[in-house]
Amino acid sequence: MKYISIIGLSIVFLLLAACGSGGSGTPTGGTTATEEEVGKLIFEDTRLSENNNQSCASCHAAASGFADPDVTMAAPVSEGSITGEFGDRNAPTAAYAQFIPAFAQITDPVRGQIFAGGQFLDGRRDTLEEQAKDPFLNAVEMANADKQAVVDKVQNGSYANEFMQVYGDDVFNNTDTAYDRIAEAIATFERSDEMNPFNSKFDCFLQDAALYPLSTQEQAGLDIFDDPDGGKCSSCHTITPDPVSGEVLLTNFQYFNIGVPRNPNNPANIANINFVDLGLGGRLVPPVAAEDGKFRTPTLRNVELTAPYMHNGALATLDDVVQHYDIDVANEFITPEVNRNIAVELGAGTFTGLGLTAPEDYDALVAFMRTLTDGTGVGICF
Ligand code: HEC
Ligand code: HEC
Repeated sequence: MKYISIIGLSIVFLLLAACGSGGSGTPTGGTTATEEEVGKLIFEDTRLSENNNQSCASCHAAASGFADPDVTMAAPVSEGSITGEFGDRNAPTAAYAQFIPAFAQITDPVRGQIFAGGQFLDGRRDTLEEQAKDPFLNAVEMANADKQAVVDKVQNGSYANEFMQVYGDDVFNNTDTAYDRIAEAIATFERSDEMNPFNSKFDCFLQDAALYPLSTQEQAGLDIFDDPDGGKCSSCHTITPDPVSGEVLLTNFQYFNIGVPRNPNNPANIANINFVDLGLGGRLVPPVAAEDGKFRTPTLRNVELTAPYMHNGALATLDDVVQHYDIDVANEFITPEVNRNIAVELGAGTFTGLGLTAPEDYDALVAFMRTLTDGTGVGICF
């Protein structure tokens, strides 16, 4: 065990080389592991699942906009650590989740008393820390038996000494405390620049529209996106700075039913043809029928990388998403999974569709959404 942990430590030291560490490797040896670095090691540690085969990053991978790289239209939700176990929902990005406010009832100037915020698509956890405690113990995700199992794996892991440097030598003495610290480390990584780089082409445009203009097509897409009589997108996917953080987050954190159809390929629907995900309405205690079918508006940052789309993965491409918004939901082109409480914003109360012109308007909207991918501003203004 000692031998293994020495090898592991030296790997950690290689990872931390940028910090100039590489000392003796003793817990108090003046190394410079930070909470963020420890959090990243935990986030990427596949041992922290029942079958040692799944980390947070398995379903929230950097190259896939911190969503699941393995989901497809045929298998639109993530498989857990245990083969054949699936959740009901399509993994959202974990990037920029730090900006999601705690779940609350708020008063919107236009919409009145409504719900907003909360981690998970139905807002059932308030903070990143609380959110991070769930996947380890969720039977269809990482499926560990209990907190102790997770803590033991961290304690026996290659970065146990770094974990103790950050949280104290006695951190493993109490399981609940250690488990809380694990969640804190993850949340710190989730708040890092690495997971919130804000370096898309759109961020350059926001810095200085004259200096870093969008292409003609991208600008046309933005114009539709922001047109209250056109795409209406920005009425929910906000493009003005969030009052709390000052950042442009592409969501108002409010809940809507946008009429997403059921997804016959979702394992939940295969197991039970009557399965319906009621979203917010179903998870409130007691359930609130007026909130049925509503999900929290997601950020659109990195949306190019996170297909398939929507809570159940029903839509394959961004073009499909635009088409979904554009068609007349009431006209039976699609049958929404929950055919009530549909957002009036989508069709001025009559669900008449958005009146976009295909393919030009569709292509323009998609081109605009591609400017939200992190890294696309590197070489332009970063
Ligand atoms: C098996 C795939 C899977 C694993 C493993 C997984 N997640 Fe997730 N994650 C999901 C799904 C699916 C959701 C949405 C679930 C829901 O809304 O009910 C989600 C939601 C989230 C959210 C909320 C994002 C939002 O917009 O509300 C965060 C943050 C997150 N996960 C972080 C993590 C962390 C941290 C870990 C590791 C401790 C982890 N996830 C492990 C699939 C996964
Ligand atoms: C009434 C509020 C509202 C409006 C208007 C709106 N959206 Fe959305 N959008 C949402 C909600 C809520 C979801 C999540 C729905 C779900 O998962 O069932 C969503 C999901 C999406 C997604 C999928 C994101 C993902 O990660 O799965 C994309 C892409 C998107 N919207 C783009 C647009 C575009 C483009 C427009 C304008 C044509 C638009 N939205 C207008 C509320 C809105």
